This record gives sequence, structure tokens and C-alpha cells, in this order.
Amino acid sequence: MDYSIETGPVEKLQCDCIIVGVYQDRQLTAAASIINGNCQGAVSQVLERGDLSGKLGEALLLNWLPGQAFARILMVGLGENKPMTSKSYCKVLAAAAESLKKTAIQSVVVTLADCAVADAGPQWQTRQIVQAFSDSVYQYVFTKSDKHTDSKLAKIIIAVSQNAQSQALAGLAEGIAIAEGVNLAKQLGDLPGNICTPTYLAGQATEIAAKSTNMTVTILEEEDMAQLGMGSLLSVARGSRQPAKLIGLHYQGGEPHCKPIVLIGKGITFDAGGISLKPGLGMDEMKYDMCGAAAVLGTLQAAAQLQLPLNIVGLVPASENLPDGNANKPGDIWTSMSGKTIEILNTDAEGRLILCDTLTYAERMNPDVVIDLATLTGACLVALGRIPSGLLGNDDDLCHDLQLASETANDSIWRLPLWEEYQELLQSNFADMANIGGKDAGTITAACFLARFAENLRWAHLDIAGTAWRTGPAKGATGRPVPLLCQYLLDRAAQVSA
Ligand code: BES
Ligand code: MN
Ligand code: ZN
Repeated sequence: MDYSIETGPVEKLQCDCIIVGVYQDRQLTAAASIINGNCQGAVSQVLERGDLSGKLGEALLLNWLPGQAFARILMVGLGENKPMTSKSYCKVLAAAAESLKKTAIQSVVVTLADCAVADAGPQWQTRQIVQAFSDSVYQYVFTKSDKHTDSKLAKIIIAVSQNAQSQALAGLAEGIAIAEGVNLAKQLGDLPGNICTPTYLAGQATEIAAKSTNMTVTILEEEDMAQLGMGSLLSVARGSRQPAKLIGLHYQGGEPHCKPIVLIGKGITFDAGGISLKPGLGMDEMKYDMCGAAAVLGTLQAAAQLQLPLNIVGLVPASENLPDGNANKPGDIWTSMSGKTIEILNTDAEGRLILCDTLTYAERMNPDVVIDLATLTGACLVALGRIPSGLLGNDDDLCHDLQLASETANDSIWRLPLWEEYQELLQSNFADMANIGGKDAGTITAACFLARFAENLRWAHLDIAGTAWRTGPAKGATGRPVPLLCQYLLDRAAQVSA
């Protein structure tokens, strides 16, 4: 897809379609009224006839406009004539992109960068336009024999006023980098478990590092992990014929002395549950159990593309979780890298087992903050559904920064308590702790487990079990929380530059 910024008169831009916004009370945006004037009032006619009410996210395609530079007009409803919330704006963009999907339109001019959005400007708006269109045209084809995607869209021209040009260009670069990070995360998530193995993820990380002069990759093999005493991580890999990997992506965009931001992504490339086998129905979706890993790779790729003035380390513990004669058994006890012993009461609570050793390992990076992302608990879907990711952490400032970033990025999160009182649920008679906490508060007890390995860290945990992919007929990865993480990094980068 080709994205560009144009500052010239919108009615002169050659394209298959121009997208203009209209308000609920039949008022036109500046661009809509120019286009309206150019084609004998076609836009206002539609509103007067009542064929489009202008309600938020409604859209109508006008298809026959002879003698214009633009062959079609897509009218999109913006709702009430007042500054939109950022959430509403994203909804408008998604609706606009969606209505072009099944058309033959190849090139489109978007004039929505100048409609008023509360607390946002042309930079953010341009970025969201790129992300919305990219999100909508993504289609998984890797293992289809027909590799053609349905969407014909190839060129997106974002029209802005002259004085917004430099902001729009900055937003364009951010949008493209984030969108490509999201696409990578979706693609990796959607790949089947027989292709996207720990070794495959390591290969992807190597390719990402090769694209950038200030990024390097480290891959720890099982022997290396054994040397480090990562008994917990390795216990999960026991049931798998695919070797586990601990992947590190090290991006150096900041001053050498600056402490890195460490992102850890759960990389279970297939989670059958192990000996505590999952039920068969819907088990295919457990290929998505590496979406945390995919988001880390996508975010590091975006950060390097934008050359953010930060040091960032991405860590991905990658393994399968399968039943086997050599696999973890309920009751088995292993010693983690931290020295703490763990009784494995349920082999399906494997994510925390690979993450805890990675948290201990992260201490070696002397991190500023550590954020882990994991499709960790089905309980997160019970608590929060599929709208926000769950947020838990031991550092209020970090959690607050993430909450702000999530609002800006329109990639929502919701904080759950991580109180000391929950810790007793992890009590074990035979080891320092059990790996499960019983029926109650599953998302919290999982985070409580991780917290025991993050005592020396400023740490936050995102449970993305409900947000990393969609289930049902539109089954597919979402690329979340790449937008949130990129926003957090952009915010951090802005502090460095300030
Ligand atoms: N990967 C799953 C969590 C999951 C389940 C995410 C369903 C999305 C949808 C994780 O490894 C797991 O199996 N967790 C268990 C924990 C339990 C055994 C304490 C769960 O959620 O059932
Ligand atoms: Mn599991
Ligand atoms: Zn899992």
C-alpha cells in the first residue's frame, strides 16, 4: 500500500474515490462542501433526501460523478457537529475503510485529517488513518493457494492543509511503522503452529534485526537456558519435539548509559495444555498463544523503523506446550532461575512458567521498566471480555503511563488489583509456590505468580487473552497491543527529546 500526504486543492486530486465527512445535522466539513460545490450539490442532496443521516460511522458511496477528478465520493457520518472523541474518530475511519473493501476502488483521497477531534491534531489523525486502512485491508493468505487479497486498494492519499503538512508527515511515518508492526503481529499470530514454531520465531527476530544497523539478536538454546538454571521454562519444553528458544532483540537507539525498556512476550507457539490437556473444541485457537511474542517483534520492528531515541530489549521465551511421556506432570516440582521452587499443579498454566524465568533473566539487562504481554488466562475473558486487555503491575507510575498510552492509541486496557491478599492462593505444601491459585480470580493469581519474580523490577503485565485475536467467523489476529506499546514508546521518546 502506498500512503502519501497532499496539500493541494482536494477537488483536483485524481483518484477513484474521495472520502468526505458529514455531520448529523446536515452540516458539511470544509472538504465536503468543496466537493459538494464541484458536483452540483450531490452531497447535500443525499442528506436532504435523508439517504444518509450523518450518524457516526454511517457511510454511503456515490458512484457516478462524470467530469470530476474523483470518480466516486464516499460520504461518512461524523455524528454531532462538535469535536469527536478519539474513539469515535477511529470508529469513523474503520467504517470508511470497511465500506471500500468490496469495491473496485484502487486509489482514494481521505479528507478526514482536518475534522475536529478532541485532544488530537493532524499528526495523530494522519497516523490513525494509516492504521485504520492498513487494519482493514489485512488479509491472511500465506497458506492459501490463491495469494490475491480481496481489497483492490493500493494508494491512499491523505489531504491536509498546508500548515498541517509537517505534522501530517510525522504522523504518516508513525502510522506506517505501527501498521507494519501490527501486520507482522497479525501474520505471525495467524500462522499455524506447524509453521510458526519457536525456531520460526527466532528466524523472524533475526530478520527484523538484520533490517536495522542498531539492532542485534540473541538466541538462547536449551543448553544455554539449562546453564542459566531456567528449570521452570525448560520444564514446559519437555513435552515438545520442537526445541525451545529464548529470543532477545536488542535495539540501541538511545544513549549507551540509558536503561532499556524491556518488553517480554509469551511465545507458546501451540498450547495443548500438556498432560492437563485442554478440551478439543476450539483448541486450534491455541496457535494464538504466541501473540505476546508477535506483539513484541512487531513493536521492536516499529521502534527501529522510527529510530526512536530509546534503548529497548524484546525478550521472547518460545516453546510448545504438548503432552508427551517426558512432559511436565501435575505435582512435578522444578527450581526456577531465581532459585524459587514451583509445584506444577496444572501443566496448562504454562505461560507463567516460561515468563517467570524470563523476568529473572531480564534483571540482567538492568531495565528501567519491564512490560510483559501474554495470552495468559481464559479468566481474563470472563472478567473483561474481549474489549480491553488486562493490566496488572507493581508500579503505579508505569501502569498510569500505560493507561494514558492506551487511550491515545485507542487500544484499551483495564487495571485489576494485585493485592498481597491474593498471594496466599498460590500456597503449596511441597514447594515455594504452586503454579495455579484455584478457581477464583484467575487473571490476578497468574499475575501474582509473576509478581514474585518481578520484586526487583518496575513491572507491568498485560493479559491479552481476550484481545490478541478474534474468535468466530472473523477469526484472526488483531495485532494488539502493538498500537498501545508503540504509543508508550513514542511517549517515552518525547520525554527524552524534551
Ligand atoms: N493460553 C492459555 C490461556 C488462554 C485460554 C487464553 C483461552 C485465551 C483463551 C493459558 O496457557 C492457560 O491455559 N491458562 C489456564 C490457566 C489455568 C490452568 C489456571 C486457563 O486459563 O485455563
Ligand atoms: Mn495453557
Ligand atoms: Zn498458554
